[in-house]
Amino acid sequence: MVVNVNFQVVSNEFQSKRLDKMTDKTEKKHKTLEQAQQEGKYIRKVRSFVKREGRLTKGQERALTEHWQTIGLNHGDGLIDIKALFGNDNPVVLEIGFGMGKSLVEMAKAAPQINFIGVEVHKPGVGACISLAVEQGVENLKVYEHDAIEILADCIPENSLTTVQLFFPDPWHKKKHHKRRIVSADFVETLRKKLNVGGVFHMATDWENYAECMLEDMQSAQGYKNLSTNNDYVPRPDSRPLTKFENRGQRLGHGVWDLQFERVD
Ligand SMILES: C[S@@+](CC[C@H](N)C(=O)[O-])C[C@H]1O[C@@H](n2cnc3c(N)ncnc32)[C@H](O)[C@@H]1O
Repeated sequence: MVVNVNFQVVSNEFQSKRLDKMTDKTEKKHKTLEQAQQEGKYIRKVRSFVKREGRLTKGQERALTEHWQTIGLNHGDGLIDIKALFGNDNPVVLEIGFGMGKSLVEMAKAAPQINFIGVEVHKPGVGACISLAVEQGVENLKVYEHDAIEILADCIPENSLTTVQLFFPDPWHKKKHHKRRIVSADFVETLRKKLNVGGVFHMATDWENYAECMLEDMQSAQGYKNLSTNNDYVPRPDSRPLTKFENRGQRLGHGVWDLQFERVD
């Protein structure tokens, strides 16, 4: 059975309610999503984002048109050869959900001896990131405009990353939407395999309940060591610039929790 999803552009909340209902219905029909997939059925997955088709500015559009060939990566090209891609053997940082890319470009500019790969689903954000990278003369950065879950599954080799960064992922505040949060037991296990032994998964959030869930998932996961001396959170490292999202949170008086876990196995 093919589940055709024909969405209208309506409010995000309404759209995500519809998605929840559809996925729940599908899950009831099949014992598990995995089982249904094994049977060759197409299932609309629960995603960590709702695609917002915001308009591109002229600058973003130009950046995408003129620089995609050099900075953009395509999901359809499959598994990447990172050394060939960057022309060197430098350490590699993967950032998931970089928003408009301001802090990612800042980090890449400050560390030319490190290769950066960004993944973001929001097209204007990808355009803004490329535009800024070109303006700043950053050459150690490549970006995908695609779902990070699929990029991890299809494009990133195992044991290839020095760091994975996940800064201020969508918190999906309501309990019934927690299943949309990108951090889960499966996700952290997928990342563990993509990291080198000794590589670090760095998360930051300004939503306390999400920080607690991240900590729980990481503490239950095998093969990671918490880099916090108190076995919980770490202070914001100097290498992480304040993101646009975080600046806004600070103005609103939100706390911020950073977590860093090293792959040990
Ligand atoms: C709350 S914003 C934070 C953006 C940025 N990290 C910051 O701190 O300013 C979360 C971002 O993650 C992106 N995102 C959510 N799920 C994603 C996924 N599965 N793959 C790629 N990007 C994703 C969203 O489009 C959004 O831009």
